[in-house]
Amino acid sequence: SLVPIILAGGAGTRLWPLSRRGRPKPFLELPDGRSLFARALAHARSLPGAATPLTVLHRDYLFQARDAANGAGEEALRYLLEPIARNTAPAIGAAARWLSEHSGPQTVLLVLPADHRIEEGPAFGKAVSQAVELARLGYLVTFGIVPKSAHTGYGYIERGEEIGKDAVLGHAVSRFIEKPDRARAEGFAASGRHFWNAGIFCFRADALLAALEEWAPEMAQGIERCVGGIQEKDGVVELPKEFGSLPSLSLDYAVMEKARKVAVVPAPFSWSDVGSWSSYADLLPADARGNRVVGEAQLRDAEGCVVYAPDRLAAVLGVQDLLVVDTPDALLIAAKDRDQEVEAVVAELRRQG
Ligand code: GDD
Ligand code: MG
Repeated sequence: SLVPIILAGGAGTRLWPLSRRGRPKPFLELPDGRSLFARALAHARSLPGAATPLTVLHRDYLFQARDAANGAGEEALRYLLEPIARNTAPAIGAAARWLSEHSGPQTVLLVLPADHRIEEGPAFGKAVSQAVELARLGYLVTFGIVPKSAHTGYGYIERGEEIGKDAVLGHAVSRFIEKPDRARAEGFAASGRHFWNAGIFCFRADALLAALEEWAPEMAQGIERCVGGIQEKDGVVELPKEFGSLPSLSLDYAVMEKARKVAVVPAPFSWSDVGSWSSYADLLPADARGNRVVGEAQLRDAEGCVVYAPDRLAAVLGVQDLLVVDTPDALLIAAKDRDQEVEAVVAELRRQG
């Protein structure tokens, strides 16, 4: 069987003050009224034959996840709760270990991060069915996006030989390059042999656990101690405190970069980051002067501005390329082209408590 695993752990710091510690990115409402989490659920549900998805997240966010799921008409979901976030390798390893015991070692997992917005349509389902076929053969499968730019915030995957007898299902991976510098990213974006790593994975539970055992044995043993024998209660599986002492590593780093039988499936669907205010604004319609607005804002003589003010009346006069984000307890005013630096502002605010 196929079980979608939704990772909903990301903070989304660059969308501050819309994203806050208590309201992380997967649960924010996007301009279309849906959250990334609800979209991931819809993708999971669109897969023929897929079982009830299992969402992995910090226990503090269970409430929000349930709220968002109810809002999307979903009720009986399953959750695996982390007491402390330890990055993706422990989160995914724990999901694989749990499903191996409760659904069988050959269960195929499809890991969907609630981190990017994936276009809905047949391309997604087709890529997943290729990945599932490869996963059944024992491959650890990644999804590769054709690079649109020399982005330095993503991992790159270099493809090797084709895999598949009658039809090409994917490619062997010749190497992973996590977040390269600008010069290398430019080379990769132009090579025709490199993909962006979408962070979506597909594998059999037993294949992932064997690779963890081989490349991160301490983590594998820790996961065994945390997950072996724990039971679901009302759709919730709560990881014990000890989970917090597992090494904090990404799955890419702990396993994918080292394992031998790794494949990449080209992912021809559109995939967009909603990680910063400019990407959020891309989801909004622009007026004749290039302003994008959420709420009732009055704009006069303004150009190229992004104004997010759903709760209060806002007025914007005589400015260009300004970003204004008004929330009940925090206000951001920034030059639009400096939206990446919001992360640094938030870090500074946190340092000051
Ligand atoms: N439940 C849970 N617990 N989820 C987590 C945790 C955790 O401890 N840590 C991260 N996640 C989720 C995030 O919410 C996100 O959906 C996904 O796992 C990836 O984590 P990020 O922290 O966003 O990773 P990244 O963006 O630096 O890099 C990864 O994703 C890129 C694509 O978005 C890598 O796989 C890159 O190679 C890749 O290009
Ligand atoms: Mg990310």
